[in-house]
Amino acid sequence: MTLNINFLQKTKTLNDTIILPIYEGKKTIGDIDPIDSDIKKLINSVLKNQKLFYGKKDEIYLIPTPEHKSLDNIVLIGFGHKKEFTNLDAENMGGKIWSTLKKCKAEKAYVFLSQLGLTKKNHEAELAARFALGLKLRSYEFNTYKTDNKNKKGKNLTKITISTNAQSLASAIYKNYKANAEGVFLARDLMNEPPNNLYPASFATKVRKDLKPLGVEIDIFDEKKMEKLGFHSHLAVGKGSARQPRVLIMRWNGLSKNSKSEPIAFIGKGVTFDTGGISIKPGAGMEDMKMDMGGAAAVVGLIKSLATRKAKTNVVGIVGLAENMPSANAYRPGDIIKSMDGKTIEVLNTDAEGRLVLIDALTYVQKTFKPKMIVDLATLTGAMMVALGTEYCGAFVNQDKLWEQLNEASSQSGEKLWRMPLDNAYMNEMKSKIADLKNLGGRYGGACSAAGFLQHFIKDNKTSWAHLDIAGKMIHKTDSDTAPAGGIGFGVRVLDRLIANNYEKKS
Ligand code: BES
Ligand code: ZN
Ligand code: ZN
Repeated sequence: MTLNINFLQKTKTLNDTIILPIYEGKKTIGDIDPIDSDIKKLINSVLKNQKLFYGKKDEIYLIPTPEHKSLDNIVLIGFGHKKEFTNLDAENMGGKIWSTLKKCKAEKAYVFLSQLGLTKKNHEAELAARFALGLKLRSYEFNTYKTDNKNKKGKNLTKITISTNAQSLASAIYKNYKANAEGVFLARDLMNEPPNNLYPASFATKVRKDLKPLGVEIDIFDEKKMEKLGFHSHLAVGKGSARQPRVLIMRWNGLSKNSKSEPIAFIGKGVTFDTGGISIKPGAGMEDMKMDMGGAAAVVGLIKSLATRKAKTNVVGIVGLAENMPSANAYRPGDIIKSMDGKTIEVLNTDAEGRLVLIDALTYVQKTFKPKMIVDLATLTGAMMVALGTEYCGAFVNQDKLWEQLNEASSQSGEKLWRMPLDNAYMNEMKSKIADLKNLGGRYGGACSAAGFLQHFIKDNKTSWAHLDIAGKMIHKTDSDTAPAGGIGFGVRVLDRLIANNYEKKS
């Protein structure tokens, strides 16, 4: 069920559910058109009793109104002190409110945001749009495989109206956020799909079906083409599976044909299922490895977001798709394989497969598109989770300027990044005695040595490059403010911001 959100200066009627933001410590509300005197009295009785609701930031209080002729519920939300409420708070509050509205079975809701008396239009518009984005992001559901849901009749939350004095600006900002959310939803859909249905070929064709109508150019390389182009390292990872590997290339050209700007490139690890291969993983929790394509999903989601909002930028997205299985055909520990770049790699652990998929994509993208900047995203190492847990994504960045841009985009979007080290020592750790490189480093700092391995494949130090190890940001085990449990779709929003801030022509 899609959730429609719009912005209005004012409403004439009260029905279903109204949402009222209240500053901390406020004991009464004044006259707010069209809130009638009975409702006003009821709200003020709650406000006066400051134990029930005090207006602290993030507080939510529900007042059912079953006796009222048209209204079912009033929801009070705490806004804390004036200026304390940030854009991110608004987004998270939007998500929290979605859950409250679902609980009270609301179908429509009206948010009295204009009552806050905010003086700066830009600030009010941003808060309104972020509140809407939070609601939208939290409204995501994955119920494709729930057979009882299809026939279920009942109430659905479908319409939210937000009152604001900055109506047209809020709508314009939200239009871009909505495009972001659609990208995030596609990424989540891909991550949540089961691996019997989502494998390299089906991933690629699903994306083509989704993105082609938006004007994205799509190329899919099958095994034969990959062989011809030299994706040997990637092909080795896919050898054990009955499902053949694929490379998917997406090009969004938002700049006019004659503007000669090199594209920026995004690369995603798309291991549609990672058993570990011959170096097989333990059984517990292995089902989560259907999401080992989270990096690929984020790149696809990002391209969807850019194409939906018609971003004025040229971007190439490339995702390496493979299934890592043990079988008679599988690659083994001890094998020596040759990457597209020509370097030989001794395989010491077939579970360190992501890096083998990424390096051919890295080489291909540099050779073919000569990008000025590359970001790769990968659920690359368990060690990344050991280092940062599930709150932050580790970012290995070879240029300070790109890090500053990423850091800024991160604090704006709320997708948290933490800078991690790149160092020659990590590159050296990945050298093999009998081949050029090996795919396994030492016992400690596995996320750093994995990044060091990738760095061997950045041809020119002048190319800005960031490697985001999103292993810790792959899955939510429980619902969060702005996402239900499941695949997160991490990366779409921070990278969309990165582009909007720095790599997009301003119209
Ligand atoms: N896909 C995994 C990493 C991973 C683990 C992502 C948990 C998300 C959650 C990756 O392919 C892997 O297995 N890496 C190994 C590398 C090791 C063998 C050097 C790991 O982290 O154990
Ligand atoms: Zn693995
Ligand atoms: Zn993996």
